[in-house]
Amino acid sequence: SAAEKGGYDWFMLKEIAEQPQAVADTLLGRHTVDGQLQLDEMRLSDDELRDVDKIIIVACGTASYAGLVAKYAIEHWTRIPCEVELASEFRYRDPILDRSTLVVSISQSGETMDTLMAIRYARQQRARVLSICNTNGSTIPRESDAVLYTHAGPEIAVASTKGFLSQIVACYLLGLYLAQVKGTKYGDEIADIVHELEKIPAGIQRMLDDADQVRKLAQDLVGSKSVLFLGRHVGFPVALEGALKLKELAYIHAEGFAAGELKHGPIAVIEEGVPVFVVVPPKARDQLQEKIVSNIQEIRARGARTIVLAEDGDEDVVPYADHLIRMPKVPTLLQPLVAAVPLQVFACELADQLGHDVDQPRNLAKSVTVE
Ligand code: G6P
Repeated sequence: SAAEKGGYDWFMLKEIAEQPQAVADTLLGRHTVDGQLQLDEMRLSDDELRDVDKIIIVACGTASYAGLVAKYAIEHWTRIPCEVELASEFRYRDPILDRSTLVVSISQSGETMDTLMAIRYARQQRARVLSICNTNGSTIPRESDAVLYTHAGPEIAVASTKGFLSQIVACYLLGLYLAQVKGTKYGDEIADIVHELEKIPAGIQRMLDDADQVRKLAQDLVGSKSVLFLGRHVGFPVALEGALKLKELAYIHAEGFAAGELKHGPIAVIEEGVPVFVVVPPKARDQLQEKIVSNIQEIRARGARTIVLAEDGDEDVVPYADHLIRMPKVPTLLQPLVAAVPLQVFACELADQLGHDVDQPRNLAKSVTVE
């Protein structure tokens, strides 16, 4: 009913709007005022954590993209090698696992069969399993050695939104905690990043407040046959997620690419008028921003309609942006938490314009409990 949707037309819109709260709640009580992580709730001892020499993240769909984002942060802070694998592939390839491997599952529902089978397999192989999950008492956390809950609240819409952002946050808390326990030289960054994370709900709120232009853009692009998304570094998984959302909801062909791969293929599909979203890394990030600006030039020269997501004050992109979406200045690793928001709004609005059921897209289920 309309009341359940809190006055929104769709649960998905309501859940998009709840993201500042979902992120704040996932951070709540998990660090001290001076930025020390407190995650004793995970039930893994510091000795067990110091033992970890490899991390493998397993997940499906949007949760796997949260994992791809997390890999950049976890490896940077902890210096522990971290792989990300689709749960449906993991146990069929004879992965190398032992007691010092930490398998991290990510699942909103805690009931996704592929993910459940992956963690069962991991435990049989004696790996330790930590699950990041949004649903208290669901099957995956019950079968795990340790759990870190996301506190996004119930997610009803089939397409995950607040689940996704809170999964990234939980993975970051885990990465920061591991760095703290291990005492890596990146430990100095911990308190800074925690303070930056605390400011993210306000950043997300700003993206929501500015969403009208994104809705208008979706209305303009309603006839698109194909939409592309480009990103680098953590912007790459954001591009993958933007494309997935559009496929799921609007049934439009969409693909996400690593911007650096453009010249190795994707540039061939750029045609006159094809909309291309580009997530531009912060300028402070050595060279990445520069490289992506030249990618934007290249695709625009071939007729693409460029929709550029760039931080406040980045003027380099302005001449090449047919449409500019501004983001607050945040550290590179935190940018996905703001950049994902307009992409969610865009997919939701476009699907709505096409007359689709945004909350229940055809052929999809909220949690896939078959392999
Ligand atoms: C389904 C949903 C997706 C979700 C995926 C993983 O495909 O439609 O939105 O990302 O399952 O779900 P989980 O509950 O494991 O995060």
